[in-house]
Amino acid sequence: MKRNVVTGASRGIGLEIVRQLRQRGEEVIACCRRSSDELDASGARVETGVDVADRAAVAELAQRLDGLQIDRLWNVAGVMRPQTLGAIDADAIEAMRLQFDVNALGPLLMTQALMDQMRAGAKVGIVTSRMGSIADNTSGGSYGYRMSKAAVNMAGVSLAHDLYDRGIAVAILHPGYVRTEMTQGRGLIDAEESATGLLARMDELSMETSGVFWHSNGDRLPW
Ligand SMILES: NC(=O)c1ccc[n+]([C@@H]2O[C@H](COP(=O)([O-])OP(=O)(O)OC[C@H]3O[C@@H](n4cnc5c(N)ncnc54)[C@H](OP(=O)(O)O)[C@@H]3O)[C@@H](O)[C@H]2O)c1
Repeated sequence: MKRNVVTGASRGIGLEIVRQLRQRGEEVIACCRRSSDELDASGARVETGVDVADRAAVAELAQRLDGLQIDRLWNVAGVMRPQTLGAIDADAIEAMRLQFDVNALGPLLMTQALMDQMRAGAKVGIVTSRMGSIADNTSGGSYGYRMSKAAVNMAGVSLAHDLYDRGIAVAILHPGYVRTEMTQGRGLIDAEESATGLLARMDELSMETSGVFWHSNGDRLPW
């Protein structure tokens, strides 16, 4: 039975990934800052206090999981805050730093903290966004979010190279435009459909495709 670690598991896409992995009978360690009723009902082992932007919290999680082999790490936690050109003041810069800490550094810190518990055949998924694609940026704006997701895309490719000799594959995954709290309920698909696609992509991922930038529907995305 595969053992999964999922961040951002309290709601949205992360919660749905947890549910679907549990439906498949897999073991799930669901990481969150605070749990939710839905997560508590999922049957996952819930680890609270896991702020992915907090190095000490990530290190403490690694200690709690010490000795456990991890087969899949799902980096899902993320934040989005709006910024508009002409209004990039001190508050906006702080919000941009937060997005960089959570969206870009979070997956890197989590992967580094847990990689020694992964054997050959293990996989790392990074839920990024096509808003981090430079080639796909046709509308501008969203400075902090776009910059943080472009940064994590780069981290994902470096991780794919650095973890190659360990036999650990890395996928950089756009979930689609998904109706969650982050999008205030707007979107083209529900979290269920997104999670189903993300599980399929992680199943499909191999050492040959490590470092790929995939839409949850299987399309390859441009950098
Ligand atoms: N929805 C979309 O259309 C869409 C599109 C592209 C990419 N994405 C990406 O998909 C991922 C999931 O988004 P979502 O739509 O499911 O959003 P969501 O409903 O807002 O959920 C975000 C999750 O991230 C957690 N989180 C936020 N800051 C955290 C931190 N510092 N440490 C640990 N956990 C933290 C939240 O936990 P709390 O309850 O503690 O806040 C929550 O569980 C994100 O990376 C997002 O950027 C979403």
